[in-house]
Amino acid sequence: MIGISFATLALLSALRGASAHGYVQEVVAGSSSYTGYLPYTDPYWNPTPQRIIRKIPGNGPVTDVTLIDLQCNGDTADGSPGSAPAPIYGTVAAGAQVNLNWTTWPSSHVGPMITYMARAPSDITAWSPGSSAVWFKVAESGKTSDGKWASTDLLTATDSIYTFTVPPKLKAGQYIVRHEIVALQSASVYPGAQFYPSCIQLQVTGSGTALPTSFVAFPGAYTSSTPGVVFDVYLNTSAYPIPGPAVWTGGN
Ligand SMILES: *[C@@H]1O[C@H](CO)[C@@H](O)[C@H](O)[C@H]1NC(C)=O
Ligand SMILES: *[C@@H]1O[C@H](CO)[C@@H](O)[C@H](O)[C@H]1NC(C)=O
Repeated sequence: MIGISFATLALLSALRGASAHGYVQEVVAGSSSYTGYLPYTDPYWNPTPQRIIRKIPGNGPVTDVTLIDLQCNGDTADGSPGSAPAPIYGTVAAGAQVNLNWTTWPSSHVGPMITYMARAPSDITAWSPGSSAVWFKVAESGKTSDGKWASTDLLTATDSIYTFTVPPKLKAGQYIVRHEIVALQSASVYPGAQFYPSCIQLQVTGSGTALPTSFVAFPGAYTSSTPGVVFDVYLNTSAYPIPGPAVWTGGN
């Protein structure tokens, strides 16, 4: 049962509301659907609902790219820094599409949507990558040549559903999917860009054998001077440089 009142929940929401943004509330992987980690209700249930997304403190961003919090939007302050494992995982076939359902996203928060994966060396429900370089990029979407941003124009056009494809030849195993929006409305200087990462635990099935050979760490992949972490969305009409490494294509 819910352990605290909805008045308290409303108050918590209001406190967060000053900087209300969002998170992934649902994952549809292949034919299976999983509710995301819901930061404003899950903590108040007993027993706590089991989710495939790692716990996040709320709908707010991480802005310091040096913090472990950048990895999975874990909250250093609550003693579960970065990426405390979730208790269960979803299952998806290599080559399948994964749909990530975002909560309502403010139209001012323009920016890219970027997706990484990391292969768990052992049981994913007990693994936190820490500062290890284990991540490879599988998808990215920034600003189109006609000025449409992934997190606003494109996400709105798809009813808040972001879709990526699990690399078809990726070797079977357990992976963390690190998916993020980077909101750039204040990113003309650092700190300013707002990172909204989610870490989703998936078992990938299939007979593929491909694995990448180059990896980045979170924190580490982004710095205070990385192009695309610093970018003036109001004045700079150039192509937007999506931060992080190139998308790994060896799994296609
Ligand atoms: C996204 O999730 C919300 C909450 O579960 C749901 O109401 C909504 O219908 C979902 N959107 C789509 C397009 O499935
Ligand atoms: C616009 O952004 C590009 C890509 O980051 C950068 O190279 C360029 O210097 C920026 N232009 C201005 C005027 O700041």
